[in-house]
Amino acid sequence: MPALRTLISAEQIGERVREMGEQIDADYPEGPLYLISILKGSFVFLADLIRTLKRHTVRVEFMGISSYGSAKTSSGQVKVTRDLDLSIEGQHVLIVEDIVDSGVTLSYLTRVLAQRRPRSLEIATLLDKPERRVQPVDVKYVGFEIPDEFVVGYGLDYAEDFRNLSAICILGE
Ligand code: PRP
Repeated sequence: MPALRTLISAEQIGERVREMGEQIDADYPEGPLYLISILKGSFVFLADLIRTLKRHTVRVEFMGISSYGSAKTSSGQVKVTRDLDLSIEGQHVLIVEDIVDSGVTLSYLTRVLAQRRPRSLEIATLLDKPERRVQPVDVKYVGFEIPDEFVVGYGLDYAEDFRNLSAICILGE
């Protein structure tokens, strides 16, 4: 069995997600807010985050992104594998991610979505590993900054396993 060490407990996550939801509610005017969840890792964070929002006009959409070649370096190539099926022109859009690592995925995605002329475009991520950044990304809402450790749980996987853990854990040998 691989060793799992808790980095952020379920209670700490719950508390922080509530704070993020309050901030988001305060920052956006009444009216539709489109949360775009990037598959697959963000689905748990998304599910908790939307339930902390007080507004009744939260819309949820999903996008799939895949990385090819040297994905975790600045030369990593990214492509949309599942696109939105509606226009976001003129809408407030908040991208929901589980983790920002190299920044390659989000810098690509923000370029793609900005071309569609949303009214606003921001990013909310549960986790941020700033040490790993190779492409700059402007992230408005960050749950936790974490060290450069391999983490799983709360939606994040290792070879598709561990997504169901309720805490964020460091995966050891
Ligand atoms: C993770 C995460 C981001 C991306 C961040 O997805 O959900 O989309 O990596 O990394 P980057 O900042 O280096 O681009 P992953 O490829 O693990 O897919 P998954 O969410 O389907 O597990």
